[in-house]
Amino acid sequence: MTRDRSNVTALLDDAPSYSRQNQGGIFVVIKGPDRGEAVRLTGVPVSFGSGPQCSLVLTDKTVSRKHLEAQLTGDEVLMLDCGSTNGSFIQGSRFEKIAIGFGAEVKLGRTVIKFLPDEEIVEPEPSAQASFGSIVGGDTKMRQMFTLLEDVAATTATVLIEGETGTGKELIAEEIHNHSPRKDGPFVVFDCGSVPRELIESMLFGHVKGSFTGAITDRRGAFAEAHGGTIFLDEIGEMALDLQPSLLRVLDKRAVRKVGSNTYEKIDVRVVAATNRDLRAEVAKKAFREDLYYRLAVIRVSVPPLRERGSDIPLLINHFVTGFGPGLTVSTEDMARLVRHSWPGNVRELRNVMERACLLARGSSITVQGSQGPAGRDVRARVHRGPDAAPQDEPLGRRARGPDRPQAPARAYPEVRPRSAAQARR
Ligand SMILES: Nc1ncnc2c1ncn2[C@@H]1O[C@H](COP(=O)(O)OP(=O)(O)OP(=O)(O)O)[C@@H](O)[C@H]1O
Ligand SMILES: [Mg+2]
Repeated sequence: MTRDRSNVTALLDDAPSYSRQNQGGIFVVIKGPDRGEAVRLTGVPVSFGSGPQCSLVLTDKTVSRKHLEAQLTGDEVLMLDCGSTNGSFIQGSRFEKIAIGFGAEVKLGRTVIKFLPDEEIVEPEPSAQASFGSIVGGDTKMRQMFTLLEDVAATTATVLIEGETGTGKELIAEEIHNHSPRKDGPFVVFDCGSVPRELIESMLFGHVKGSFTGAITDRRGAFAEAHGGTIFLDEIGEMALDLQPSLLRVLDKRAVRKVGSNTYEKIDVRVVAATNRDLRAEVAKKAFREDLYYRLAVIRVSVPPLRERGSDIPLLINHFVTGFGPGLTVSTEDMARLVRHSWPGNVRELRNVMERACLLARGSSITVQGSQGPAGRDVRARVHRGPDAAPQDEPLGRRARGPDRPQAPARAYPEVRPRSAAQARR
């Protein structure tokens, strides 16, 4: 079930939970007398001009009768000037034929047309399963996501995962890989937020010996390491604006050029990116490149925060107790209290709470008590240490990020994680 959502203001609208870009795209007039007019590019070429035979008829007097044509050839969108009088321009340069990407603006006469993705809201049937690999969730949105992930995993489409901290973005990326035909290939995590900016290109694309001070040997980058597998570009929203064009080039060309080299090396890599920022808002603020956003958001998945899926909390608690303290139980009362908690750190916070409670438990039950602490710190667990030991209060509502993050080992980036090790982390 899908709903058409092809419109000009897509980027400024509230983002849907799940969306996908259709093949081709939409040309929208953003400047000139026909502002707001649009035409969709699919398999058939579209033409622009003042003549009535054109797909998009422009009333602009400075536009030729058949001025410009756009065609989809494979994955590439080509713009061809049809011998117009006043010419066609991109970024001030006149062209006869040019390949364009999403976000490109083409000027013909006094008119400017912009090429945008044909974005469609996806509302999949909820999966019958309350899990997808190691992702647990019975909430309808989560089960819809499982259906989508199943479909998407089989393809090589680039996926952008958005969601608050601790909602499971990395786990989702791993499960996309695990369910994909490239599951036996590498899964490489690259944390864009933790690499010093001067090193990011060399870490992503590699470098040749002597290309800069300290480059004492040739080095492969994360993309080359991920050849045949998946690269997970974590915290993509943290990537500096001036470094974004080089990433866009790699995504466009599916080839990398090492720092200091003149040649491109073809790569076969599936890209999954994640961020806890609202990337559309970043694009609107010009803090993130629009063209890169469109390149990444071929499939867009927005993970709901835990507070919006209370019914998942008991499922997750049972999942974590089974993992950390098999045989231990949580009372109905405490379960209700845990369900009511706001979980600012999302599933990571819940996982930490349960791990700690299970580790400290001596008896057969884990008790959780409420307290009036500051927001995010209002759950404290009283762990039954057995009949002889006095109950002990532990502050449990921890910040999800930072040094208390028990699951995140210090990352040597790029991190190539063998599947067995990745699974062992959970
Ligand atoms: N739905 C889920 N089912 C089971 N475990 C989950 C789920 N969601 C998250 N987790 C667990 O919670 C922890 C945090 O998840 P993850 O690291 O994937 O979050 P994240 O969204 O990448 O967070 P951040 O933005 O802070 O990097 C991990 O230990 C992960 O295995
Ligand atoms: Mg993460």
